[in-house]
This record gives sequence, C-alpha cells and structure tokens, in this order.
Amino acid sequence: MNNRIAIPALTKELNGVLIDADTIERRVAELAAQINTDYKDIKQPLILVGVLKGSFIFLADLCRRITVPHVVDFISVSSYGKSSITTGNVRMLMDTRENQEGHHVLIVEDILDSGFTLDYLNRNFSTRGPLSVKNIVLLDKPKRHVVPVEIHYLGFEIPDVWVVGYGLDYAEKFRTLPYIAEMNKVEE
Ligand code: IMP
Ligand code: MG
Repeated sequence: MNNRIAIPALTKELNGVLIDADTIERRVAELAAQINTDYKDIKQPLILVGVLKGSFIFLADLCRRITVPHVVDFISVSSYGKSSITTGNVRMLMDTRENQEGHHVLIVEDILDSGFTLDYLNRNFSTRGPLSVKNIVLLDKPKRHVVPVEIHYLGFEIPDVWVVGYGLDYAEKFRTLPYIAEMNKVEE
C-alpha cells in the first residue's frame, strides 16, 4: 500500500504550485540538520515555539528531525483584522506554556510578511530571561517588509504573492495542501 500523502489537484482559485512537497521536505531536513549542529552543546532543552496556526505543519515536520533535546510550545497572535492587510497591531490571543528562563528559544514561523509579528515576539520573549531568542521562517516575502527583522533560519524566499498550503491558509482554506501554491487573486 502507498502511504504517501496524496497530492490534491489544483483548483481554479490556485495559480500554480510554487514549492512542491519534495522540495519542502528536503529543505526542512537541511534546516533541521543546521539546527542540530548549532544547538549541539545546549544544557537545557531548546524551546520550539510554533506561531499558530500557520506554522503547525512546518513545526511538526521540523521537530521530528531535531535530535537535540527540545520541547514544543505554541503561541497565538493576531496581526490582521478581517482582511489580509496588515495593521501593525499585534494582539496576543494565547500565550506560551513553557518557562523560557535559562533556555534557548526558537520561534517557528510560517511566513515573514510585514515583520510585525516576529518583531513583537522577539521583543516580548526577550523580557522573559531566555539564553537566546532566534527564529526559523519557512517563507520570506522581502518586498513586504515594513519593520526590519533578522531571520536566523530561512526556508525559501518568495515573491509578493499570497500563498497557501503546508499550514498557510486563505480564510481558513487550503491549509492542509501538502505543497505551497500561489493564489490567483486576493481581495485586500
Ligand atoms: P507579518 O506580521 O505581516 O509578518 O505577518 C505574518 C503573518 O501573516 C504570517 O504568520 C501569516 O499568518 C500571515 N501571512 C502573510 N502572508 C501570507 C500568505 O501569503 N499566505 C498566508 N498567510 C500569510
Ligand atoms: Mg503565522
């Protein structure tokens, strides 16, 4: 029996596959290998903080390849209203559970757009006494940056298009596609 995840066909709302499932898998493995090297001497478990909801599939694949001691945590923030236009207002919807004091923290984010979310999380976590706060971002849209944010681990740079799949959604749709696809048009 073939247990691989089936690849659903594109619908007319999607323009095309931007990054296929095999390419994502290879890149996630490379990033995990780099993290395993960089954090090999840590004394306390690395805290992986997934930013809900978009990062949950990326985090699930990444953490299963991380061989240094680690724990998984989540945070939920919101920077958008009903539309996809960024406001710069980041609201905390659900905070983390792990005590970050004395631990290295790695924020796991699906996509860097304006930068408001990661900037907020960096500043917020830095007040909690961690040994370090770094981030891993699957996708970066450099053209969209509003606030400067340093990316520590990056999956792929992409153009300024709305993408869905592999955790990313458009109005909660397309989140569980195994590839990353470009939307045809998004009303802003
Ligand atoms: P930022 O605060 O503007 O950097 O927003 C980042 C968040 O916006 C991401 O975590 C996503 O949830 C969302 N986002 C930005 N661009 C896209 C996209 O192309 N597809 C899906 N979600 C996106
Ligand atoms: Mg997100």
